[in-house]
Amino acid sequence: MGVDGMELLRNFDIPSGSSAGKQSNPVFKVVTGTTVSDIIDSRRNELREVVCGAYLRYHQGLSTNPESHFLKFPDRPRDRIIALPARDHGDEVDRAGIKWISSFPGNLAQGLPRASAVIILNDMATGFPVACLEASAISAGRTAASAALAARELHRKTEGQVLGVIGCGPIARAVLGQLEADGWSFRRTVVHDLDAARADAFRRGFAGETAAVSSAAAVVEESDLVLFATTASEPYFLDAALVKPRHTILHISLRDLGAEVLRHAQNIVDDPVHALREKTSMGLSVELHGDSLISGTLAQLMAGEMEPDAARPRIFSPFGLGVLDIAVADFVYGVAVSTGRAQNILDFY
Ligand SMILES: NC(=O)c1ccc[n+]([C@@H]2O[C@H](COP(=O)([O-])OP(=O)(O)OC[C@H]3O[C@@H](n4cnc5c(N)ncnc54)[C@H](O)[C@@H]3O)[C@@H](O)[C@H]2O)c1
Repeated sequence: MGVDGMELLRNFDIPSGSSAGKQSNPVFKVVTGTTVSDIIDSRRNELREVVCGAYLRYHQGLSTNPESHFLKFPDRPRDRIIALPARDHGDEVDRAGIKWISSFPGNLAQGLPRASAVIILNDMATGFPVACLEASAISAGRTAASAALAARELHRKTEGQVLGVIGCGPIARAVLGQLEADGWSFRRTVVHDLDAARADAFRRGFAGETAAVSSAAAVVEESDLVLFATTASEPYFLDAALVKPRHTILHISLRDLGAEVLRHAQNIVDDPVHALREKTSMGLSVELHGDSLISGTLAQLMAGEMEPDAARPRIFSPFGLGVLDIAVADFVYGVAVSTGRAQNILDFY
């Protein structure tokens, strides 16, 4: 059975072998946050392969990933809601959809997560939206898998290293979870957050030797693999002399590093056009130094089309591709349906 046939069974609940007749309306399904988190947390190896596959299909030109749309508010400059539509398409996969993700940093003071999100999945046979999934865990999971894939490609030493973490929120936690699932073991983990209590709570959540330090510079000086997962809106880490060839930097929060830091590094992005948007460090640096600053993409590394440069620090700055969200959501949806954990909304259509 091809992709379209599988789609019909999953979305329309038509028994296998039934004769083609008038098709009933699809059954809309909802997958809750608890189910999504359970599936992601228990299947990190599969998650990594799903994200890897989505990157490679996009690299081959099979998938569609238009630029995301940022809804901003003149009276609330810190807040935003982003729409990321995409189609993940290949021999075994054909799924479209959209992630709709809010970032309201003020939520933290009220004990709420900064980011909240849903994903709508569409059936590619009929175009019908067929499912809504809670997506903050999907977003964190795909970001973590992407960071871990980059770490594997760019760093390669998975034992005896010091891990540095700057910004101790759910994204940092998800990345560490994925690195652990991928077999990394660190000699020591050094963390920093502007909110010292957050840094302390974060480091206590991890086994092994950990320390909280008072600046991003202190983290970088001590570590080999460095994760930036802050909410900084403009570059503050400007001292290129602190960043050495031993460093691999996962610059997930995109706006921490100054132009000089990027200029001396091998820069890897997820998409060379997307990565320059929205005043990212990469975008600001390319304005100053030109786009030869970008060495290539993670997919090129994974496809063996380029090599990491051991003579320079290596920096991964992924803008975040919607096609990864759709791939992970489709994977989670498939597991939820096949294990009876997707909730049917029978009268939705
Ligand atoms: N590139 C991607 O694909 C991708 C995907 C998802 C999230 N993100 C980004 O990852 C970042 C982290 O997300 P989160 O949900 O964990 O956020 P969060 O707000 O829950 O946590 C961020 C933490 O960073 C700290 N922080 C802020 N500025 C800092 C600074 N200058 N130095 C040290 N600490 C600082 C905050 O105190 C907070 O504890 C966000 O910027 C988000 O936009 C990127």
